[in-house]
Amino acid sequence: MIPAPTQPGLPLEPSTDELRDLLEAATARVLHHVQSLPEQAAAQMEGGAEIARTLAEMGPPERGAAADELLDLLFQKAVPRSFNAASPGYLAYIPGGGLVASAVADLIAGATNRFTGVWQAAPALVQLETNVVRWFTSLAELPPESGGILTSGGSLATFSAIVAARRDRLPDAFLSGVLYASDQAHHAVKKAAILAGFPPENVREIPTDERFRIRTDLLETQVVADRAAGRTPFLVCGNAGTTNTGAVDDLLLLAELAQRERLWFHVDAAYGGFFLLTQQGKALLKGIERADSIVLDPHKGLFLPYGTGALLVRDLGTLRQAHSVRASYLPPIQEDAEFIDFCEISPELSRAYRGLRVWLPLKLHGLARFRESLQEKLDLARHAAAKLREMPNVEIVAEPQLSVAAFRLVRPGLDSASLDRLNRSLLERINGKKRVHLSGTVLRGTFVLRICVLSFRTHLERIEMALEDIRAAISEV
Ligand SMILES: Cc1ncc(COP(=O)(O)O)c(C=O)c1O
Repeated sequence: MIPAPTQPGLPLEPSTDELRDLLEAATARVLHHVQSLPEQAAAQMEGGAEIARTLAEMGPPERGAAADELLDLLFQKAVPRSFNAASPGYLAYIPGGGLVASAVADLIAGATNRFTGVWQAAPALVQLETNVVRWFTSLAELPPESGGILTSGGSLATFSAIVAARRDRLPDAFLSGVLYASDQAHHAVKKAAILAGFPPENVREIPTDERFRIRTDLLETQVVADRAAGRTPFLVCGNAGTTNTGAVDDLLLLAELAQRERLWFHVDAAYGGFFLLTQQGKALLKGIERADSIVLDPHKGLFLPYGTGALLVRDLGTLRQAHSVRASYLPPIQEDAEFIDFCEISPELSRAYRGLRVWLPLKLHGLARFRESLQEKLDLARHAAAKLREMPNVEIVAEPQLSVAAFRLVRPGLDSASLDRLNRSLLERINGKKRVHLSGTVLRGTFVLRICVLSFRTHLERIEMALEDIRAAISEV
């Protein structure tokens, strides 16, 4: 006779009541957490390392523990000691937000656990994700033969883009291939090129103008020089919103140059892409519709929780050519262009069902709410820059092109090292008040502070708090 299980802790298949208790215990904490976000610190790092050490465990637990104990550990100890990227005061790096509807979608996706790597295993669910990708390609005004894939983030989307470009434009011995991006491009581009097999020196860093946009004249000169030296220019990356300042390259000019020089035109729109929903963003990103590939990060501009990027390609065939490998143990792969096997166009076979965490919030909230919120972010960044400009001794280093403003404090008579120290200490003072969290960066050798407004939870009231805290911190340093 097989003995009945007698272990403490939750059975692998809980009863309906046990499962309901678990869901309710988690839901109660999530509700309390989300509702208290406006009062929470925008970042809370004190004691983080010590708590992390107390949580280090050597072996896995042989016996289960009570749900309340584990959930308390998460919500009372682990979650609070972090950058609070879900807070309305989080204005650092590139904020996301974390729409809770996406978390509900993840719960459903996990609990139903369908396999979406191949079309035949869950045709209707694959269709919902395909719809999401189609909405994105239409937002970017790509042609009908375009397509794409949802990824875990912008970095892996960039990786697949570069592999697709390499397979499309270069021979198998591809080491003479050269890629071009501005000195403001995200490091994900260089990383992806290295992962795709290129030596780091094959990625050319092209200088930028006074607004941190790629110098297309210098780009052209470099392409011509590389060709003359026997190398093979094959890809140029345009920025649709840099991480440092939100700078948008002249995408139309880049598209023309790419066409003239027969380069694959990639656009990194991880941060800026969803501003296409606004009139202002659409005008600024003109030329994106001519891209061969585009990276978007729904976990930035669509406010989703981390873990969702997207790669769009002008010709879906290029993704298939780069990623398709068949095997006899898989269900039949679709030959009909209407039906897509995600394993054919991406590096993954088994995968999270990412489509739902995009589909559910878009269907629940409707695109108009996203459009409105993104317009609000553009307006708030402009408002912040205008108010900063009025503060004595504050220099705006980068006016917002999208929703980032970069600034620094200047004091007559201080050399550049002292100015950097002053601004680092200013950043610490502002963040020390905990109502907002900003981050810094280095632009042309100078340390600057930046405000990036991108969370759906950030409204005027919080930007006013940021300005108050900046004013107060200036008077303290
Ligand atoms: C402009 C830009 N490109 C690419 C990336 C990389 O994206 P991810 O962090 O989703 O991998 C980022 C991340 O902040 C970014 O801001």
